[in-house]
Amino acid sequence: MTDRSASAPRPAGRARLAVAGLGRMGSVHARNIARSCPSAELVAVFDTRLDVARPLGEELGARVAESYEALLADPGVDAVVIATPTAAHAAMALEAVRAGKHVFSEKPISLERASTVEVVEAFSEARQFLQVGFHRRFDPALVAAAGRVSAGELGEVRLYRASQRDKASPAPQFIAGSGGIFIDMGIHDFDTARWLVGEVESVSAEGASWQDPAFASTGDYHSAVVVLRFTGGALGSIDISRVAGYGYESSLELMGEKATVRIDEPFAASYEWREPGSSSKPLIASYDRRYGAAFSAELEHFARSVLSGEPTGPSGHDALAAFDIARAAAESCRLGAPVAVPGRHDVARPLR
Ligand SMILES: NC(=O)c1ccc[n+]([C@@H]2O[C@H](COP(=O)([O-])OP(=O)(O)OC[C@H]3O[C@@H](n4cnc5c(N)ncnc54)[C@H](O)[C@@H]3O)[C@@H](O)[C@H]2O)c1
Repeated sequence: MTDRSASAPRPAGRARLAVAGLGRMGSVHARNIARSCPSAELVAVFDTRLDVARPLGEELGARVAESYEALLADPGVDAVVIATPTAAHAAMALEAVRAGKHVFSEKPISLERASTVEVVEAFSEARQFLQVGFHRRFDPALVAAAGRVSAGELGEVRLYRASQRDKASPAPQFIAGSGGIFIDMGIHDFDTARWLVGEVESVSAEGASWQDPAFASTGDYHSAVVVLRFTGGALGSIDISRVAGYGYESSLELMGEKATVRIDEPFAASYEWREPGSSSKPLIASYDRRYGAAFSAELEHFARSVLSGEPTGPSGHDALAAFDIARAAAESCRLGAPVAVPGRHDVARPLR
């Protein structure tokens, strides 16, 4: 492993970040860097759609690069935040590391395992580092729970339960290029499960598309249930849906031998009725509302790592491990049987 702290350049002041891909997620990242990350400065933006890049660059006072190559050639850019469609991440991350830039990549690194490994290996041999967009690791409620779990206050974990539900499905063209519900959405739950509980040994999964043509035509599902068996003996269950209708939900529960922690909407009453677009108690509508603070905190963390040369955020290895669980879940769903998760994130293992 390279000693980055000894060799990496340490820019003074704030880390100079650029964002490539300025759609749903990239525009959130660009605004967060410009407005709520004290250790970062947004110096440049790029999108293949100049009509998208120009107004955002103007709004945020950032240079608008004419091409990705121009962005990478800019000596005033220390690091690049990649928020393009998933299929483009790996090639762009590899170009960035060759150009000497640190990278923050949205999840997943790639739709393919082999190129995920290629990226992980390229960064492990380079002076630059890679942080992956697992924002939940920066959510104040989850961080507080994780601290108490790792301090042993929960005792041995016995059950992990999580729900991740989007109010409405994204556009069909996004679904077609997303890698499917397990790799696109489930990957957050698989990373959270590894972070809070530990490595996963095997998974069983079922998916449903209810004859919805946008999903059925791509072999994807709009809802799924995954059962996890952790190497430490705990069990987990995760439900995921893109079509909840009532709002966005991301909840979880960890039951241990001494205590249980539940991160959920703090409702006092026990009865609630939810309908498309409404609920008898107000709910949030989207992931960026639920995880707003986490999205800023992950980039502030990235900027501090750029400045210190000491990366401690979720790494390419974490991304590969969560990807492997997601791929095993998709395989289990196809086979109708449990599937073993490949042994940890050993990148030297033969690739398929
Ligand atoms: N962490 C999260 O919770 C979260 C949430 C949503 C999306 N994402 C991830 O963010 C990524 C982007 O998703 P999105 O929903 O923002 O997509 P999007 O379609 O809204 O935006 C993508 C943008 O990238 C631009 N683009 C396409 N190819 C490009 C290229 N080669 N170079 C530069 N720009 C290019 C498009 O013009 C568009 O503006 C995906 O990988 C997705 O998985 C993560």
